[in-house]
Amino acid sequence: MCGIIGYLGKRKALPVLVEGLRRMEYRGYDSAGIATIEQKSLMTTKQAGNISVLEEALRKESHTGTIGIGHIRWATHGIPNQTNAHPHIDCTGTIAVVHNGIIENHNDLRKELRARGHTIASETDTELIAHLIEEEIRANKPLKEAVTDALSHIEGTYGTAVLSASHPDTLVCARFGSPLILGIVRPGEYIIASDASAIISHTKEVIYLEENDIATLKESHYSIENQRRAINRKRHTIEWELEHIQKQNFPHFMLKEIYEQPESVRNAVRGRVLANEGLAKLGGIEEAAEQISRIERLVIIGCGSAWHAGLIGKYWIEALAGIPTEVEHASEFRYRAFPANNAKTACIAISQSGETADTIAALREAKRRGMLTIGIVNTVGSTIARETDVGMYNHAGPEIAVASTKAFLSQLVMLLLTSVALGRRTTLSPSDSKNILQELLAVPEHISAILDQKDHIFSIADKYASAKHALYIGRLASYPIACEGALKLKEISYIHAEGYAAGEMKHGPIALVDPEMPTVAIAPKDSVFEKTLSNIQEIKARGGPVILITDTDDEHARAVADDVIRVPAVHNLLTPLLSVIPLQMLAYRIAVVRGYNVDKPRNLAKSVTVE
Ligand code: M6R
Repeated sequence: MCGIIGYLGKRKALPVLVEGLRRMEYRGYDSAGIATIEQKSLMTTKQAGNISVLEEALRKESHTGTIGIGHIRWATHGIPNQTNAHPHIDCTGTIAVVHNGIIENHNDLRKELRARGHTIASETDTELIAHLIEEEIRANKPLKEAVTDALSHIEGTYGTAVLSASHPDTLVCARFGSPLILGIVRPGEYIIASDASAIISHTKEVIYLEENDIATLKESHYSIENQRRAINRKRHTIEWELEHIQKQNFPHFMLKEIYEQPESVRNAVRGRVLANEGLAKLGGIEEAAEQISRIERLVIIGCGSAWHAGLIGKYWIEALAGIPTEVEHASEFRYRAFPANNAKTACIAISQSGETADTIAALREAKRRGMLTIGIVNTVGSTIARETDVGMYNHAGPEIAVASTKAFLSQLVMLLLTSVALGRRTTLSPSDSKNILQELLAVPEHISAILDQKDHIFSIADKYASAKHALYIGRLASYPIACEGALKLKEISYIHAEGYAAGEMKHGPIALVDPEMPTVAIAPKDSVFEKTLSNIQEIKARGGPVILITDTDDEHARAVADDVIRVPAVHNLLTPLLSVIPLQMLAYRIAVVRGYNVDKPRNLAKSVTVE
């Protein structure tokens, strides 16, 4: 949510800032702005709307400075207008601040600052930081001390970058609860950003700032302090390439990411599967082997698609490892009573970004209770990756589209591998495990075969694109897949859609069925296939159109559905890995036909870093 960038070096800051904002646009697109230092004075340009609106405004300005900051906003405090856009400025017009996060004591701070004579122009919490720094600078403090002291008044979270015209050679940034990465282009040239995608075209050498870090950048050097003490942070190398965050020949990132799924499955299993021996080798599980041997219960936490992945993980873990598993929305788990023998309970936190505020809070709660915490995270160096006791990366590469596709699929792969790894420690036989793993290795080709049905799937989407409501149904692990399909449709096409356990239809939702409302039924040929077919018949009997996703050419199934999408037949446990693909493609196409911005749906942002 929101994106921050800062540049200090010998080049003009403006092109670096604008390029960085463009690359982070998927994180927020309500308003955008930049500030540079121009011969010891501050110059700010900001606009409501997306980056193109800002670029238009920048054509009339001449930002030539070599030090600057920028921001792309997803509104939390205050509507998305020009005044509320970042950067925010103090009363003297010499200090500029960009900020991600939430200041919880903003009401008190606002009152206090007003009482001390400050004029506060916007409704944002961020502007208060600028005024707090103003007071410290007035006391003749250097910029780093001024920022450090100003931030000590704040309760809440921040990733922030600060410019001051009275310190024209210095850029100060700070992290608490909101990610910040320092990119080292060369000595004397630095980029800071909340997202590696804004840095990668300039350098792959980065430092992931940690909680309470304050970094000071100057042309002569950079330094980092934590709790007012100098600290050395390790440099890391970003492992993906610029092309991963470019659309290449695809019209949208979402479609590109859908098509990257065969590769993301390969990347998730690479080096982790010894199929002939029936072994899944996961560093995280092996590292904590002794603790895991004592685990009697699992709780999986996540939000949105990650929560759906967790629901499927539950089926797999319980089926293959026999360990009782609960799946909790992170936003609920963090607040509710959860009676458990904490020493014998492990918590698996699933997150693409590794920065989702609720998942971080729930993870911290699990740690506080003394549970072993295991991360399944896509973004390297993210908060959840760093704070879990052990973990594994999905290696899906950067996911840019707000609607998760390849990251969701790779979360499933990681959960399946986890289930096999745990299962081999409990009840899963080597031959069953071998069977599953061999089939898993063939999944990328099966996905490609589904992608090859694009014309067929898109023609079905075209047929239903004007629907106002849709139901998705499935049983067992196809039920969370139904929920995931419904989430994809609602988030990018704004069609009201619900996922239901097929057996629940008769208990209420079937009342909604009419000829205008399509139902997408996910019914692989498994132990409950016939039961789901009966549910489909009940829908048909009430005039509801049905799109069937199945792995069989069963003639009854064909006869009862209006449209059928066949996916390759695989081991029953693996069907979610395939049945989700047509659901992503249906949602994508429907959103395109309805003319919506698929990659940047309204009101949403890629990573939800506020509660
Ligand atoms: O980064 P995370 O995996 O923690 O994000 C969780 C959800 O915000 C995310 O899955 C969201 O539901 C997606 N937009 C779904 O497509």
